[in-house]
Amino acid sequence: MAKTKKAWFCQSCGTQHPQWMGQCKSCHAWNTLVEEVLERESAPTSWADPQAGLERAKAMPLSEVDRHAEQRHATGDAELDRVLGGGLVPGSIVLLGGEPGIGKSTLLLQIALGLGEKVLYVSGEESAQQIRMRAERVGLQGKGCHVLAETSTAKILQSAEQLKPSVLIVDSIQTAHNPQLDSAAGSVSQIREATAEFLRYAKARHVPVILVGHITKDGHLAGPKVLEHMVDVVLQFEGDRHHLFRMLRALKNRFGSTQELGIYQMHGHGLQGVANPSGLLLGQREEGLSGSAVGIPSEGMQPLLVEVQALVSSAVYGTPQRACTGFDTRRLNMLLAVLEKRCGFRLGAKDVFLNVTGGLRVEDPALDLAVCAAILSSNADIPIPSGMAFAAEVGLGGEIRPVHRIEQRINEAGKLGFDHVFCARQNGVNAGTMQGVQVVPVRRMEDLVTALFG
Ligand code: TYD
Ligand code: MG
Repeated sequence: MAKTKKAWFCQSCGTQHPQWMGQCKSCHAWNTLVEEVLERESAPTSWADPQAGLERAKAMPLSEVDRHAEQRHATGDAELDRVLGGGLVPGSIVLLGGEPGIGKSTLLLQIALGLGEKVLYVSGEESAQQIRMRAERVGLQGKGCHVLAETSTAKILQSAEQLKPSVLIVDSIQTAHNPQLDSAAGSVSQIREATAEFLRYAKARHVPVILVGHITKDGHLAGPKVLEHMVDVVLQFEGDRHHLFRMLRALKNRFGSTQELGIYQMHGHGLQGVANPSGLLLGQREEGLSGSAVGIPSEGMQPLLVEVQALVSSAVYGTPQRACTGFDTRRLNMLLAVLEKRCGFRLGAKDVFLNVTGGLRVEDPALDLAVCAAILSSNADIPIPSGMAFAAEVGLGGEIRPVHRIEQRINEAGKLGFDHVFCARQNGVNAGTMQGVQVVPVRRMEDLVTALFG
């Protein structure tokens, strides 16, 4: 009988242990170790063979490396190309993560159909008929798009070898499995092995490979952490399923910035890139309501105008509630503490709810000032005059801190008809008009309170 090598893997962090233990040594999670087959002695050589292609390995001076070899492959989708940093790099692996139903399969099928080149779209989750129905729904012809409903990595790569596609798409890595390994599809060793096989294929054939990755309950990519180390680009597709907008971000990008944000809208006939998100986001804004303020976060190079809504009311139960959508709850608690301690607002006994409209999740701290303004406005029940926007970070001392790219933010506000922008005094912009916008530099939280409510 063939000898097999086995080890124990933590299903939560992917650490390998030589024997079973109750608690993982690395992440300290309990009862997460599962025995998995590492390799079989009788494994035949194939793409799965790490030795394959070794004869090509030869060190060379960096200056002799062909710089032009890495021509980017534009996908034709302006948002995706921007997030990738200009298109797919040949021989790279892109991992696209996201919650179920967010639109990963739709996005990739649209790319496959829109490329107009030979693309192999492999699905382990849907049948060829289902893919065809989806293609008809998004209304694209896609002459060069070939589909394959398969989960075995050997068969997928065999078919790729025959077809020689210019892009390979695998939906999803959790369904791909190597029959040589005993463990079930989706387990740590299967995911790692399957990714390694696609990686070897990508590097050997200079073909970009896009993998779909599932996401766990707590929002991390399912599978071992090494998966994220192995791939070149990790993209995350996020947004509220009940909202129109879907956001595409790069969490890791070996070939570009991780700052860019792509915004899509889900229609009845597929996903569509949104060219003017600020206009759409502010379109549904109601004027004259207290608790609403407009912030100017900048995700990547493009500043956005978003509406922040706050509701401050007396807590009915003992412990006041704090809830956020689209903003970090810990950051909200910090801002509330600053307002309480530095400005004397009694918010400790109040429920505070915060909402960034449009289903957007904002990470830029430049939204802080708008969040504070919305809270103060709701607390005092005085609306903020329309035409005012805010772009600054708030420090623990109650000081208003500068943010980058302030001119671009002010410009964007001006384009959308705003006439006042509050920013930090240290931002280096002087009070006065800039592109028709009145710039109001503030130094401390108290200055904002005086400017808004007198
Ligand atoms: P899907 O792309 O299958 O998501 P994932 O692969 O991330 O699980 O699902 C997309 C969702 O969007 C699904 O619930 C149906 C809906 N949808 C539309 O609203 N319009 C469309 O044109 C398509 C194809 C899907
Ligand atoms: Mg899917």
